[in-house]
Amino acid sequence: MSFSERILTWYAAHKRALPWRETKNPYVIWLSEIILQQTRVEQGMPYFLRFFETFPNVTKFAAAEESEILRLWQGLGYYSRARNMHRASKQVVELHAGDFPTAYQALLELPGVGEYTAAAIAAFSKNSPHAVLDGNVFRVLSRYFGIHEPINSTAGKKLFSKLAQEMLDRDHPGDYNQAIMDFGALQCKPKNPDCSTCVLQIDCVAYQGSLVDQLPVKLKG
Ligand code: ADE
Repeated sequence: MSFSERILTWYAAHKRALPWRETKNPYVIWLSEIILQQTRVEQGMPYFLRFFETFPNVTKFAAAEESEILRLWQGLGYYSRARNMHRASKQVVELHAGDFPTAYQALLELPGVGEYTAAAIAAFSKNSPHAVLDGNVFRVLSRYFGIHEPINSTAGKKLFSKLAQEMLDRDHPGDYNQAIMDFGALQCKPKNPDCSTCVLQIDCVAYQGSLVDQLPVKLKG
């Protein structure tokens, strides 16, 4: 089995049932992905549910008072995320007539939407072939391929970004992206990864070379 087949098979057995995985609605996916930046799933979940209940679509979100959005955001920190969301929602109403974009390049134009979020929304809503690259993906790929290039160096970011795109399952971009993030979060964990039960064990350079706890490499600073 290929890398992506193994990851997808693992995902079919272990996937977490999360509300934003049941939708193709780019607005709802955007809501979840912005909330989950720098926030754990367990912490983000009640916020996601409250935001979705209060603002079921982007037009309602854009029409809200900023103070209401900031009030609902209380406790999540990084308030620039909330302010950028409000700006982005207004931009969607003004430039896209309230029709939330799903194309990667159009998504990148929205305030607060970077490469990760644009890839996530494009892949989850339309199965567009864009690989996500977050901390989980850096970790899985650096271990599997035994890459010591720092994940936060310019060369490292370029290398991992190219590799992530190469490994993407182009037949199932959405599921593959969800799968590799869950695999990193649940199996190939930062500390005490479950190598003994890992479906990638036989091909994993880090496991075979006893380098798992040395990867990924991250520069301080
Ligand atoms: N963290 C960020 N995005 C996520 C997603 N789509 N599913 C689970 N955890 C996530």
